[in-house]
Amino acid sequence: MNNVKLPPQVQHVLYATENYPISGTHYATKGEITANFLTTQKEFFEGDSHLMPKGNHQEHNLDMYYWKVLLSPLINAPDFWRGKSALDFGCGCGRNIVNMLDLVNFQTVDGCDISKSNAIYASAYANHIYRDRKYEGRCKTWETSGWDLGTNAANSYDFIMSHVVFQHIGNWRVRANILSCMFDALKPGGIVSLHFMDLPDSVGYYINSPNGRDNCRVENPEFLIDDLERCGFINCVVYQRRDIYSGRPAYFLSGQKNPRTDIDFSITPLDPNDRPHEGGQT
Ligand SMILES: C[S@@+](CC[C@H](N)C(=O)[O-])C[C@H]1O[C@@H](n2cnc3c(N)ncnc32)[C@H](O)[C@@H]1O
Repeated sequence: MNNVKLPPQVQHVLYATENYPISGTHYATKGEITANFLTTQKEFFEGDSHLMPKGNHQEHNLDMYYWKVLLSPLINAPDFWRGKSALDFGCGCGRNIVNMLDLVNFQTVDGCDISKSNAIYASAYANHIYRDRKYEGRCKTWETSGWDLGTNAANSYDFIMSHVVFQHIGNWRVRANILSCMFDALKPGGIVSLHFMDLPDSVGYYINSPNGRDNCRVENPEFLIDDLERCGFINCVVYQRRDIYSGRPAYFLSGQKNPRTDIDFSITPLDPNDRPHEGGQT
């Protein structure tokens, strides 16, 4: 993707006018907006990579919803995942990779990240640093462009997860493409388990921001179900919670790639009285 510089006067009208050229004003194409988003997002996260190990590992490992909802497909059926393969999207410094390998006996857990430094750190952490090389050889990580998973491998993973990533992708078109790549990368019957959050000063769900620093907010869980179903996922479920630190709305969603399995691998709520938003059945 090219690094497209948008004139300042365009930046502030893009959100409302993306599809409506303004006479006398340069009009950015969809491709330029996406390219600019990805270039600036990569710069931002690469620049922040030195903060990642401490910030993410210490804070997010204490989130009860992370374990009891997002990772519930693993915790609820630990034997099922023996010998299978998982991918952590936006792996940061390897926290989720190691947690997944600790929880169940995956054969491999890979990770991808828009930041090259994070991707390098994550596999070093899982392969060498963590507990005397306990997981050596069971994890590969790589840098992505931000637009996809950075691999064309279709039907490769049984489980794909992501924690505290999608809220940082303030461009719906990019998120929609990533979801569709997740669908392709899953094996038949595979599961996605994803997390979103409504951050302050964020752009609305369907905005395609040109600025890679822009976060996004969901506000309506139906939007998440719609996007999963558009990719072809079945058994789609979203639970809305309050983020344990900020109190802001957080969303945990899962979906399955056909065919449905005998065991229900959708995420489960922490509180048994909670009811999810359920997608239409296909
Ligand atoms: C807050 S950190 C969370 C890291 C990790 N998921 C965790 O839970 O510890 C957000 C991560 O998402 C990555 N990221 C953001 N946008 C991305 C994109 N479009 N594609 C891949 N990774 C992305 C960032 O580089 C960063 O490592």
